[in-house]
Amino acid sequence: MTERTLILVKPDGVKRGLSGEILRRIEAKGYTLVAVELKAATAELLAAHYEEHVGKPFYEPLVEFMMTGASLAIVAEGDRVIEGFRSLAGPTDPTTAPPGTIRGDLGRQWPTTVLQNLVHGSDSPDSAEREIGVWFPTL
Ligand code: RTP
Ligand code: MG
Repeated sequence: MTERTLILVKPDGVKRGLSGEILRRIEAKGYTLVAVELKAATAELLAAHYEEHVGKPFYEPLVEFMMTGASLAIVAEGDRVIEGFRSLAGPTDPTTAPPGTIRGDLGRQWPTTVLQNLVHGSDSPDSAEREIGVWFPTL
C-alpha cells in the first residue's frame, strides 16, 4: 500500500555534505520525494518529534545534538516506504550497522555522548503521520 514517511538527514549528515548522497539512495530505491526542506529544529519541535523519548537518559544530549545545525526534512512516498527506508538506513548504532546501509557505509561512532547516525526514519504509520505534521504542518 502506498504510504508516506518522514526522513531526516540529521545535522551530522548535513554538515558532512551527505544530503545529496542520502537523497540519491532514496530515489535510487524508487521512492518519490514529496517534500524536501532544510530546517533548523527548535526545542519545541524536537519535543513533539521525539515524543516517545522524552525523559530517557539520552533525550537531552539528543536534543542538543539535533540543535547543532539544520536538518534536511524529507517526505518520501511509496509502497512500504516506512519499513523500506528503515532498511536503507540500517540499525541505530552506525559502528555495527551493516555495509550497504546509509549508517553502515557512511556513519561511525564519534566521541560524543549521543549516537550520531546521519538519518531518522519514521517507524510506523502512526509515527509517520505525527512526524510529517510536526515538520510539514501545511502538508
Ligand atoms: P531514528 O528514530 O533517529 O530513526 O533512530 P532509531 O529509531 O534507530 O533510534 P531510536 O531508538 O528512535 O533513538 C533515536 C535517536 O536517539 C539517538 N540515540 N542515542 N544510547 C545512545 O547514545 C542513543 N540511543 C539513541 C540516536 O541518534 C537515535 O537515532
Ligand atoms: Mg526512532
